[in-house]
Amino acid sequence: MKYGPPPAASGRFNSAWAELATVGRDHRRGGYSRHVFDDADMQMREWFTAQAARRGLDTEVDRNGNIWAWWGTPGPGAVVTGSHLDSVPGGGAFDGPLGVVSSLLAIDELRVRGFAPAKPIALVCFAEEEGGRFGLPCLGSRLMTGMADPEHVRRLHDPDAISFADAARRVGFDPTTIGPDPDRVAMIGAFVELHVEQGRLLHAADPNAAVAVGTQITAHGRWRMTLTGEGNHAGTTRPADRHDPMIPAAAAILAARRTLSLYDGAVATIGRLEPVPGGTNVIASSVDAWMDVRYGAAADTAALVDEIVAAVREEAELEGCTLVVHRESLSDQVMFDPALTMDLASALKVPVIPTGAGHDAGILADRVPSTMLFVRNPTGISHAPGEHAETADCLAGIEALADALTELAR
Ligand code: GLV
Ligand code: MN
Ligand code: MN
Repeated sequence: MKYGPPPAASGRFNSAWAELATVGRDHRRGGYSRHVFDDADMQMREWFTAQAARRGLDTEVDRNGNIWAWWGTPGPGAVVTGSHLDSVPGGGAFDGPLGVVSSLLAIDELRVRGFAPAKPIALVCFAEEEGGRFGLPCLGSRLMTGMADPEHVRRLHDPDAISFADAARRVGFDPTTIGPDPDRVAMIGAFVELHVEQGRLLHAADPNAAVAVGTQITAHGRWRMTLTGEGNHAGTTRPADRHDPMIPAAAAILAARRTLSLYDGAVATIGRLEPVPGGTNVIASSVDAWMDVRYGAAADTAALVDEIVAAVREEAELEGCTLVVHRESLSDQVMFDPALTMDLASALKVPVIPTGAGHDAGILADRVPSTMLFVRNPTGISHAPGEHAETADCLAGIEALADALTELAR
């Protein structure tokens, strides 16, 4: 294995990790809940800004709420690394923060090595990557690249009916500024996002490797199905009189699961269900079911959704319910820049792997040469409190990121 733990970095890694360990703990769900502009997210942002300042990096928040820390003068050809600070509800510690902490420690490593970059290097924390609060994943990078409509984003609301615009104002961020940032995008010469692996493809590619370079991301999207029936009494309503939207919702869950065995490589998941009014002794009047589907390219994913929706509609009709489907997002398959990917894999002497998870690097890849570094995850568990990476592997990731930045910024 090329990468071993550099002892100098391990103290800094452990202390950064310890500082973040208490921020946004979710004692009900387990793990962490950090969502854009909430208290935990603001604490994470303050932590990053302070860490960057300690390193003499100039920080700024861009017009879309993404934080940038610059080593060198912002300008064309910038080599950018970073990730996100938010989490899914009850998420793990590593998804996002590992890439941010690694970006800071990679700068330390480059300075220890006496590296003088010929190009500006920027560290970035993208806002609301998970879409955990407002539903649209990669919100900050989509806005920056012009892939999300600012007016639509301002009107998105969280589960407490707070709009993006209001949430932004509450923390002193002006929501009228959001939108495409072509000058900033034009400055990026290359983007490399380090991330904990969210599966075990790295282990399959090379059981001895702690780090891999990413090649591609499967298409993925989110759909909200609103099923409406008739609210009624759980004890007194006869079977023939029931119009229970939970029945077609159950059919949706099973139809989603069925696609996994019907189509190789396809995944469809319903991870969020909100019956209204949500009483134990109440037949729901309506239910929202959010479905995450990923398969091949966007057209394959959409075709799969059509198939699932057809099954749900049939069940809804049998139950006397109606169905309205709303697409919240759809991201096409992404192939990371082949030259960048292959150059880094050969310079770092690590394997290459694809991923089924979405990332800001996938959004940026449409505009600038982008790729990813993945750090081994022994169980593959992610988006759950059990997500883990060994410290030695994280340190290997930091070294690999420092090497990648050296390659790109020399
Ligand atoms: C984000 O991690 C996603 O893949 O949904
Ligand atoms: Mn994630
Ligand atoms: Mn992530």
